[in-house]
Amino acid sequence: MNMDSESIRKDFPIFKRNFIYLDSAATSQKPYQVIEAIKDYYENYNANVHRSIYSLANEATEIYEKSRKNVADFIGAKSEEIVFMRNTTEALNFLSYALQSKLQKGNEILISRMEHHSNLLPWLRLESHGIKVKFAELDKEGNIDEEDFKSKLGKNVKLVSLTHVSNVLGTVNNIEELGKMAKENESIFVVDGAQSIPHLPFRINDNIDFLAFSGHKMLGPMGIGVLYGKYSLLEDLPPFMQGGEMVKSVSLERIIYEDPPVKFEAGTPNVEGAVGLSAAVDYLKRIGMENIRSHEQNLGKKALELAESNKFIEYYGPKDFKKRSGLISFNLKSKNYDKIIQGLRSKSIITGKFIHSHDVAEFLGNKSVFARSGYHCAEPLFKYLGVNGGIRFSWYLYNDVKEIERAFESLGELNV
Ligand SMILES: Cc1ncc(COP(=O)(O)O)c(C=O)c1O
Repeated sequence: MNMDSESIRKDFPIFKRNFIYLDSAATSQKPYQVIEAIKDYYENYNANVHRSIYSLANEATEIYEKSRKNVADFIGAKSEEIVFMRNTTEALNFLSYALQSKLQKGNEILISRMEHHSNLLPWLRLESHGIKVKFAELDKEGNIDEEDFKSKLGKNVKLVSLTHVSNVLGTVNNIEELGKMAKENESIFVVDGAQSIPHLPFRINDNIDFLAFSGHKMLGPMGIGVLYGKYSLLEDLPPFMQGGEMVKSVSLERIIYEDPPVKFEAGTPNVEGAVGLSAAVDYLKRIGMENIRSHEQNLGKKALELAESNKFIEYYGPKDFKKRSGLISFNLKSKNYDKIIQGLRSKSIITGKFIHSHDVAEFLGNKSVFARSGYHCAEPLFKYLGVNGGIRFSWYLYNDVKEIERAFESLGELNV
């Protein structure tokens, strides 16, 4: 099926306003189906969940648990393996704290050079507990170098945590192969799915022990995210938060925790978030993840062509659009910098040969092309690439080729 992004756009009320939104890697826009589902929940079903036995509360609990089941089905997992969290960041931080008790001084964690701060800082935190963090190198095009990855495994590497898709390079990592190597090494394998679950067909497999992703990047509301964990591992992990509704029984001497996932959801959960995320999953399923992937690849093909043909652009990541997900990060060389910054607020310093990415983004923004600039929460990666940040165009099911063309045209207007 060819995707009709024009009719899809009609489902997104925000596009009444006239702009080109190329920042879906930061957060996606929301269709009215998601907004309505949240409204319907509050208008007809709201009560606290898992606590009370009157009918309204039972209905609310049922809706909350149905949402969990829908999210679980979406990735091929079981309901009890899905813990609702705030976002990917919270899920990865939870793991860092919960897994601390399983790690010892001298143990090692292997991640890659391309990680987002959310899959970097929680592991670096453990260095103060005597655990060493190692980095798999990248090849020239920004793929994880599998030979280097393999050579860095070893008996001390107890945990491997990798992003599935890089939010800077767009690289789709071969997590099947990398996960297999991690498991052969008997390491816990964690996947940061923040940029993949919204964009690619995905099924959980046996090599993945934990997976984190965010609802707001996949058409759902902000404030809801998911930690998937293999049930046996979740059973074995201590809760990070303590409080209401996560215990079977408490006395002043003894606590008996609930089973997962409830044991990890202390306090009143984000029920509206779960409902909204479930509606987002329904929306994505209706369009079809294969269709979304191929639509984004078409836009990616065009973006790469345009980047290649613009002599002022230096872009990062694989040159083959099939190896990438729906984004491109780049810098723009300047022909006439002084003229460009006249009238712009940020007037950031020019770094070497490039126009500062904030200046480019502000210029584009003035033309209603909305794109991210800066480090994209991956500062070490940009330093590794030898550049001081970049501009990122990231697209989704509601964007079309014309918008990509228009965005690159606007870049051309900078270098006149
Ligand atoms: C690869 C990657 N990991 C983690 C995150 C963090 O996501 P959140 O801010 O929703 O926690 C992001 C967000 O941009 C990301 O791109």
